[in-house]
Amino acid sequence: FSVGNSGVVPNDRGGMMESALTARDRVGVQDFVLLENYTSEAAFIENLRKRFKENLIYTYISSVLVSVNPYKDLEIYTKNHMERYRGVNFYEVSPHIYATSDNSYRSMRTERRDQCILISGESGAGKTEASKKILQYYAVTCPASDQVQTVKDRLLQSNPVLEAFGNAKTLRNDNSSRFGKYMDIQFDFKGAPVGGHIINYLLEKSRVVHQNHGERNFHIFYQLIEGGEEDLLRRLGLERNPQHYQYLVKGNCPKVSSINDRSDWKQVRKALTVIGFSEDEVEELMNIISSVLHLGNMQYGGDDGGSACITSDTQIKYLSRLLGVSGTVLTEALTHRKIIAKGEELMSPLNIEQASAARDALSKAVYGRTFTWLVNKINGSLAYTDESNKNSSVIGLLDIYGFEVFQYNSFEQFCINYCNEKLQQLFIELTLKSEQEEYEAEGITWEPVQYFNNKIICDLVEEKFKGIISILDEECLRPGDASDITFLEKLEDTVGSHPHFVTHKLADTKTRKLMGREEFRLLHYAGDVNYNVNGFLDKNNDLLYRNLKEVMCMSENKILTQCFDREELTDKKRPDTAATQFKSSLAKLMEILMSKEPSYVRCIKPNDSKQAGRFDEVLIRHQVKYLGLMENLRVRRAGFAYRRRYEIFLQRYKSLCPDTWPNWQGKLPEGVSTLVKHLGYKPEEYKMGRSKIFIRFPKTLFATEDALETRKQSLATKLQAGWKGYTQKTKYQKLRRSAIRIEAWWRGILARRRAQRRRKASDTIRRFIRGFIYRHQERCPQNEYFLDYVRYAFLMNLHRNAPKNVLDKSWPTPPPALTEASEHLRKMCMQNMVWTYCKKISPEWKHQMEQKTVASELFKDKKDNYPQSVPKLFVSTRLSTQTPTTLSLPIQFLLSFYDLLCIPSRSYAVPVTKYDRNGYRARPRQLLLTGDSIVIVEEGKMKQRIEYGALKGISVSSLSDGVFVLHVPSTDNKQKGDVVLQSDHVIETLTKVAICGEKADNVNINQGSITFALSQGKEGVIDFTPGSELLVAKAKNGHLAVVSTQTSG
Ligand SMILES: Nc1ncnc2c1ncn2[C@@H]1O[C@H](COP(=O)(O)OP(=O)(O)OP(=O)(O)O)[C@@H](O)[C@H]1O
Ligand SMILES: [Mg+2]
Repeated sequence: FSVGNSGVVPNDRGGMMESALTARDRVGVQDFVLLENYTSEAAFIENLRKRFKENLIYTYISSVLVSVNPYKDLEIYTKNHMERYRGVNFYEVSPHIYATSDNSYRSMRTERRDQCILISGESGAGKTEASKKILQYYAVTCPASDQVQTVKDRLLQSNPVLEAFGNAKTLRNDNSSRFGKYMDIQFDFKGAPVGGHIINYLLEKSRVVHQNHGERNFHIFYQLIEGGEEDLLRRLGLERNPQHYQYLVKGNCPKVSSINDRSDWKQVRKALTVIGFSEDEVEELMNIISSVLHLGNMQYGGDDGGSACITSDTQIKYLSRLLGVSGTVLTEALTHRKIIAKGEELMSPLNIEQASAARDALSKAVYGRTFTWLVNKINGSLAYTDESNKNSSVIGLLDIYGFEVFQYNSFEQFCINYCNEKLQQLFIELTLKSEQEEYEAEGITWEPVQYFNNKIICDLVEEKFKGIISILDEECLRPGDASDITFLEKLEDTVGSHPHFVTHKLADTKTRKLMGREEFRLLHYAGDVNYNVNGFLDKNNDLLYRNLKEVMCMSENKILTQCFDREELTDKKRPDTAATQFKSSLAKLMEILMSKEPSYVRCIKPNDSKQAGRFDEVLIRHQVKYLGLMENLRVRRAGFAYRRRYEIFLQRYKSLCPDTWPNWQGKLPEGVSTLVKHLGYKPEEYKMGRSKIFIRFPKTLFATEDALETRKQSLATKLQAGWKGYTQKTKYQKLRRSAIRIEAWWRGILARRRAQRRRKASDTIRRFIRGFIYRHQERCPQNEYFLDYVRYAFLMNLHRNAPKNVLDKSWPTPPPALTEASEHLRKMCMQNMVWTYCKKISPEWKHQMEQKTVASELFKDKKDNYPQSVPKLFVSTRLSTQTPTTLSLPIQFLLSFYDLLCIPSRSYAVPVTKYDRNGYRARPRQLLLTGDSIVIVEEGKMKQRIEYGALKGISVSSLSDGVFVLHVPSTDNKQKGDVVLQSDHVIETLTKVAICGEKADNVNINQGSITFALSQGKEGVIDFTPGSELLVAKAKNGHLAVVSTQTSG
């Protein structure tokens, strides 16, 4: 990664605070540290106002979160919001309670240091809400398991229970916490919440018996009365009407619109179950709560001597049952006081006033102790028991009442404000003072910040012997007529000269006007408060008469037996006063908080009327002052935003510089120096102390943190790559080895097969050659393979190349040994083909073939026009279709007769030319063949009939002419000599005649000329000569000259 000249690593994710600066005119700055005029209170409040207007209720002062109560539900607490703040740098997202929570959580996880979050602010400023938001954030975002889920549930459910018993409606807050609460959340080494512990401080018990106008008692009383089941109420002897109970009517405020007691009751009941209360325990708890109500309703009357007596029995009856004590003993204890005089116990009756006070004291004691028991019970349920896991860390949440300044301030306000002084002291010690001291210790030059150290006020209150609490205790214990006024006087005597203490007597005239005579004023760090001393002694004594304690110790209620320990009775030592108890519990709290790394949430209440959107500037200025926020800001601006010990810093960021990675061998400061130089820090951005580096601006640190984040990714990628490479390589090598083995094995198989084939091949070749050499010898072992092969080859060749039809005369040449067989085969093959051919011949075709065979025998190679006749089919008639109609009936009859006789072969008709015996004139005629004779017809008239038996022979030339002579015996008178005819289909005609007349042997083919008989013993001659053109004519020698062409057929 590279660092720019600016020294800040480019950061696209972060820069939230910087980016919000562009809108600062409207929304103000997110961190007061960025205020230009950071010393101006007006600018501070203006910034708060701007943000409040925009519903931006959170603002930082460096790491301190300032929160303004919006008095309305904002959509900023969803699960999505939680996710957004999870694991993100504090300044990268807008200020939020979740950012503070996450920051503490991460510091705890990464640095293994316990954390605490101190939430402070006035009543109604939103402290309890803030602590709940923090708890919810951890419950949702921290890792969980089933067991952890139970703890989470119990942690969350402890709130409604504690609020029911410890919160009440006050003028300032409808759900005001009337006790201080410190809660530890324990996390195991995985960061999962595994347990918790709660410490409660100073419950405002007086509320049990008295409430100011417009205020209520603790919620639980109303919840029980409004929500309790009929059965339960009957058992407790309660009516469903809070107006019937004296302890609930003092404030005249039974109903509050923002509170639903009935549904709250349901929630509390459920929560009690989740936390692990049994049904019996809940019942006993409710017995106690209702007994307090019954106590409040108890009526006293006076007898003659002025001693108090109880006028109605009902309450006593219920009380004895609910508290599990004897009614008479309780009655006596409520109306008498046990005094020990000269070693003797005496019961002295109380007057009405005293009895009422005793009763109220009992109510307060019972309620107060039960509340402590409740906290302990919850602690038991939250306790982290796994001893094997010592590595748990803790985040503490402190939600404690803020500064209280009323018109009339009493002992409670004194304690509460003292507590706030202590917390301020802690804040000073932890942040302001320790910060300055640290700079000094580290040798860093830094102009000291002027701040008010309130230790002087703390000392005024708590110093041994000289402090206000010591003086109060002294007055409480002193024998004689100690009273609140004597206490005031004592104060004037002892601390009268203290700069932070004023009384009416000591004040200047101006102040005196603002003070009552029974008041003393403390100049708190946050402002001046007048305290009225009335009731200080009583409240500090917190007296419960011994005989009442004894009665409670006898109770059969299991909770009460735990609350009132018998040992208390035998213990001679006086119990600590309320103020002293509070002082020591505060001291313990300070110890706890000092051991942790603190974060602060400062809550501000925007107005007194619980209204959304109202920004009461006077009220807010007051709070800004009381919370010491300006002081806080001054220190932050002057100082450094971040500091870490060299080893921690180097350890965390060493991977960002090649010189320090993976390890720095030299001295730590040099290592850090090298590192920050490499990161491009500018001199004004940081300082090197003796053991720590100080970084002035948060942004410098964030840039480094972001760079680390990126670096982590790349380191992780590198590691991953390395590991992946290693595993892949191992896998590859294994695969390779396997592949090689398989290959080798397969190659072996292939090679063996090949060798086998070669061996076989060479054997074959060898046998072949040997056989070839011996091929002419008798069959013997040397040549049998060869001979067999030759035979086989011939037969296979024959199989492939045997002739496919009869005309194909090819035949493979056989080897000598197969000559004979070959010949047989050839014949068989031919026969077979012929046979197959013949089988396929139709009768018509057969007839045709027979005729063709005859024609072939007669004319082949003998007559020139024979070849032309071969392809032409023989037909049964050559006459045109009209011709037969011109035949005379007898002839038609004749022909059809033969047809009927199914001897169509015997019928034939062809046009011919007849040549006269005299002059050889040509005459067209038709020649017909019938069953027994040749008939020559002219135009349907029979001209001549020659019976086949009378036909002596037929003569024809060897040339290609169509002239032929039918020889008839000259003896036959019917005939006038031989007939000379010419047919265009001479081969067909003569073949038919030869077949019909069975005269095949009598056909003569003549060369040159034919001699034929004319009538009466005369002879004619026909001369045939080849020529260019067919010509039949009488020659000069009286012969018939025929010139024959090659073309006619
Ligand atoms: N973040 C918030 N969002 C909305 N409403 C809030 C918020 N914080 C506080 N409130 C409102 O203000 C009321 C008072 O808040 P809360 O009970 O937390 O005050 P507190 O500081 O604990 O006061 P006390 O000291 O009396 O206990 C709440 O009941 C709620 O109505
Ligand atoms: Mg509260």
